[in-house]
Amino acid sequence: MNTWEESCTCEKHGDYIGKFYNLGGKVNHGGNCQECLRLKNKEEQDAKDKEEQGKAKARKIRKREDAGISKRNLFKTFDDYICQTEGQTKAKNDCERYFKEFPSDKSMIMVGGVGTGKTLLASAGIDSIIDDYRCEMIKVIDVVRELKATWAKDSTDTEEKLIKYYSNIDLLVLDEVGSQFGSDTEKLFIFDIIDGRYQNMKPTILISNLDIDGIKDAIGDRCVDRLREGGGMMIAFDWASERK
Ligand SMILES: Nc1ncnc2c1ncn2[C@@H]1O[C@H](COP(=O)(O)OP(=O)(O)OP(=O)(O)O)[C@@H](O)[C@H]1O
Ligand SMILES: [Mg+2]
Ligand SMILES: [Zn+2]
Repeated sequence: MNTWEESCTCEKHGDYIGKFYNLGGKVNHGGNCQECLRLKNKEEQDAKDKEEQGKAKARKIRKREDAGISKRNLFKTFDDYICQTEGQTKAKNDCERYFKEFPSDKSMIMVGGVGTGKTLLASAGIDSIIDDYRCEMIKVIDVVRELKATWAKDSTDTEEKLIKYYSNIDLLVLDEVGSQFGSDTEKLFIFDIIDGRYQNMKPTILISNLDIDGIKDAIGDRCVDRLREGGGMMIAFDWASERK
């Protein structure tokens, strides 16, 4: 193949040496300005990088949504928890330490009034470990609903399968424990999950507006007993709501 060089001029970048070659009689201009080429390559690479970043971000969001983190609490960290009282500082520090020390088989109970930031802190905690561990935060009422849905004729899930799933994930956060009157069936479901996790040495975090006696009434002594074994921590959120 016949090749040669000629000096050319780019409108944007000035003079350059262009390469030319002759392919079967046709002369192809193979001598684009190097700067134009460099810019074109860079543009393509930037577009690719941007697409990858977009995909990675979508994966991160998906992972958090699957873990039960709400849109409101997406990507929240412990820094988002503002501490104006000693109680808040202690709650935040205790919770942050719990997640720093994860994994451990120790469970935790977070109790207190509405709007005191329990769900926010748990979401921040999950965010801090979710890249390494399988976590899920779910309201008790939704677990019960899921389990009951397996009774339907056309259900592809079974009760056993779901209980097994919840008994095996690395961290389960049961939110809004006792926010409604629980039937005996519901108590049994919750016991099966908490006991399954206890047997598997997997920790559970329980969140509730009730005090410890109220929680015992709602889900039974045997559940609470398992959660507190081995020094399971309890954090009390005893201040007014931050909801405005
Ligand atoms: N210390 C705090 N710093 C910043 N925002 C806070 C703090 N405490 C609560 N919030 C905000 O107040 C609102 C209520 O918090 P959150 O939902 O976590 O409360 P909760 O204790 O789970 O309440 P409930 O018991 O009603 O579920 C949220 O918007 C949350 O981001
Ligand atoms: Mg909450
Ligand atoms: Zn050019």
